[in-house]
Amino acid sequence: MRKYRVIVMANQTVLVLDFGGQYKELIARRVRECNVHSHILSGDTPLETIQSYQPIGLILTGGPNSVYDASSPKCAPELFSLGVPVLGICYGAQLLCHLCGGKVKSCEVSEYGVTEAEFTKFAAESPLFEGLEGAQEVLMSHTDYISDLPDGFVRTMSTNHCPTAAMENRSRKLYAVQFHPEVVHTHRGIEMIHNFLYGVCGAVGDYSMDDYIERQIEAVRARVGDDQVILGLSGGVDSSVCAALLSKAVPGQLTCIYVDHGFMRKHESEEIEHAFAGQDIRFVRVDASDLFINALAGVADPETKRKTIGRLFVEVFRQEAAKIGRVEYLAQGTIYPDVIESGNDKAATIKSHHNVGGLPDEIGFKGVVEPLRGLFKDEVREVGRKLGLPDALVNRQPFPGPGLAIRIIGEVTRGKLAILRDADAIVREEIGNADCGADQYFAVLTDLRSVGVMGDFRTYDYTLAIRAVITGDFMTAEYARLPHELLSKMSRRITNEVDHINRVVYDITDKPPATIEYE
Ligand code: XMP
Repeated sequence: MRKYRVIVMANQTVLVLDFGGQYKELIARRVRECNVHSHILSGDTPLETIQSYQPIGLILTGGPNSVYDASSPKCAPELFSLGVPVLGICYGAQLLCHLCGGKVKSCEVSEYGVTEAEFTKFAAESPLFEGLEGAQEVLMSHTDYISDLPDGFVRTMSTNHCPTAAMENRSRKLYAVQFHPEVVHTHRGIEMIHNFLYGVCGAVGDYSMDDYIERQIEAVRARVGDDQVILGLSGGVDSSVCAALLSKAVPGQLTCIYVDHGFMRKHESEEIEHAFAGQDIRFVRVDASDLFINALAGVADPETKRKTIGRLFVEVFRQEAAKIGRVEYLAQGTIYPDVIESGNDKAATIKSHHNVGGLPDEIGFKGVVEPLRGLFKDEVREVGRKLGLPDALVNRQPFPGPGLAIRIIGEVTRGKLAILRDADAIVREEIGNADCGADQYFAVLTDLRSVGVMGDFRTYDYTLAIRAVITGDFMTAEYARLPHELLSKMSRRITNEVDHINRVVYDITDKPPATIEYE
């Protein structure tokens, strides 16, 4: 039996304690951009759990509440006496103030937007502001403010409307900023985060993708031993990078199964088979389209669709595993945002990603292997490049696991799939050729039918929506400002070339409040 050495040493970790703010992922990513590992936990996580991570620092996020609301999320006051450096941001700053004995009051007028903050004389000695001087542009977004500092704290920054824009107690390593250093609008915010990590927490910068790859390879080997693993390969970035990593970790024990659920885009299954079948991995294509399409007959609810697809994926994997023999592990290309957006007992479920919330409770394998579960999308791409995957694959747009089934509003039928495939191929061709900076673009078949006229005849056909967004992290997005000529060209081509579509609309909604996909 093969034996592998397990590396037990872990990265230094900064915990991001979430109090319901919209920027928790952004804070976590900023920390990682500084080469320090970060992990998000709910703000009211018990002290022992927090300590079990042996964090080198804690960052308390913003949030919509007031510290005086009985129901507002709180951490244990002892958190501030652990000797672990803390940076409180916005609500996190007010909470730190409140729990350390200071006072927080409501502003007469809420303060939103970029403003100038001045350093006080105490800032000259502050490790948080090392290398910074003069007025600083900062993004404020608050309705409460710190009115009385807790004992032992000094004010380091203030603005016209906010007497305490920053405060600190250097000896206790407690820092608080009312503004948001994690957003680009706070021009030197990333330097402040860097200063907190390196100047206060004593970070050594041991988090890198090279290191991550090595650790995951060791961890997968230790976990899997001599057993066989199957990986659900969709041809997307995440599962392809996962395949590349696993083929390094457990070569000879990996079978990649591509389940064609019948919801793929035009010619996509053939392209994926072509890309992977020639590689040095066992690749199996399973045509399960009848199974999936029949199971979705009459199903219109988005979550039911996602859960049904999640369940059937596992069913098919199990059948294929039985054919291979000794398969104990199911591998998946799950990434960190899938986990965050699928919710938990604290955070609201936005969508059950088929590979997280969509998984049935009893999966029938000894375990699930998810080596990318801790990574953001841009980190997954970096891992892919480091493992030698071609740019075209690494930079592919995301395509959701449930495929076109969640881009057809309402019941999915073979007829609707055929319509959407043809329209989507036109959208992707035209926007792709226009090179207009959109990060993800596709077509959605709505369940709206309306009256049109074609030649001399009345039509009563579907409305197609075009979605194109600009986003870096896919957690928030802006709709792409596509030129009107491009929109008209797509509209004309789609209504002329695709049967049963007589109306085309362009979606001009950002995320939030919408999501990128429709279901
Ligand atoms: P939403 O619609 O939540 O999508 O704004 C954010 C990003 O995630 C992709 N997405 C998925 N990817 N399985 C996936 O692998 C899924 O179930 C899934 N749902 C959404 C979506 O395309 C977008 O890039």
